[in-house]
Amino acid sequence: MFVWVTHQVAATRWLKAELAERAPHLRFAFARPGLTTFRVDGPPPTGAVTMPTAFARAWGVSLGRGQVPEVLAALTPGAPPVRLHVFERDRDQPVDEQDPAERGARAATVAASLRAAAPPGAFHDDERARPGDRVLDVIVPHGHDPDEPWLIGAHDHDATHGPWPGGVTHVPPPPEAPSRAWCKIEEALRWADLEPAPGEIAVELGAAPGGASYAMLVRGVEVHGVDPGEIHPDVRGFAGPHGNRFVHHHLPAAEVPRGALPRRYQWLLNDVNLAPMVAMKYIERFVALAHGGLKGAVLTLKLNDDGVVAALPRLRERIGKLGARQVRITQLPSHRSEVVAILTW
Ligand SMILES: C[S@@+](CC[C@H](N)C(=O)[O-])C[C@H]1O[C@@H](n2cnc3c(N)ncnc32)[C@H](O)[C@@H]1O
Repeated sequence: MFVWVTHQVAATRWLKAELAERAPHLRFAFARPGLTTFRVDGPPPTGAVTMPTAFARAWGVSLGRGQVPEVLAALTPGAPPVRLHVFERDRDQPVDEQDPAERGARAATVAASLRAAAPPGAFHDDERARPGDRVLDVIVPHGHDPDEPWLIGAHDHDATHGPWPGGVTHVPPPPEAPSRAWCKIEEALRWADLEPAPGEIAVELGAAPGGASYAMLVRGVEVHGVDPGEIHPDVRGFAGPHGNRFVHHHLPAAEVPRGALPRRYQWLLNDVNLAPMVAMKYIERFVALAHGGLKGAVLTLKLNDDGVVAALPRLRERIGKLGARQVRITQLPSHRSEVVAILTW
């Protein structure tokens, strides 16, 4: 059996090293930029395929390579509809430097041709996977690449997977977003299938200039942003239809007095540009200050060199002690040298 994983091109070396350590039964098979496959030695594992690395964005079993006829051959006649996910593997170029008209265009064309060729009812109409869905993954190169065969794969959707094609695709920022951190938080929420609700409260550590806070404000969430840096005026002065607003704690995270924070808050975001082990000290403090009210945390962790990657096991252990019910770690399309840990309680 072969399994596949999609990821950022720049993370390939780290992904392979982490899997060699944590999943030695996976034997490297072949790779294209942003797509790595492994042979599984021995009998197929029972239960879902797991991909224990911080760099995996989507994964599943491989059904082989091909084009429209091979994808159609992977469908079981008369079976319930499957969820069709067609997506492009990552390119070796930051998403915000890619041509937005080109990104995703190939996947959209392929998806349309598959839907047109498949028998009626073969696919669900929409893309968002629900727990228990069988997902048919078709991984295509972007428009620049030669017309190589697609990789055809499958996975059973559960809460470890992102519900969108490829887990999540890049979410371009609106023109008024004060920073690209808007994309990071929106992609994280989509990948983890989380929806902060109007009336809830978030605390963000490292909030300036305010891209992620702005995304939360637009969702109707009140945001307490902690940062000694300056906040964009549109964020500072935000007045949402839900009466929610932004409160700036104009201090380093260690100096915020507990009395200045709401007694309970539901969301904790971290984006401080500090080494992850240093950021963890503040994260631990702000998890405790939420008094058990947290629903979720979206913690961006900077990976500036190989040393930090080597420290991932210790970091995982420390994150595990925060008491969340589930911890998921991934690298999103908008990330540069960073990954995100998403915790839910
Ligand atoms: C990547 S930027 C944050 C971007 C921001 N999340 C956004 O949405 O626009 C990192 C921020 O961390 C802040 N920072 C660094 N050390 C900090 C600390 N000890 N406490 C709070 N903020 C800190 C910096 O001032 C900087 O504004």
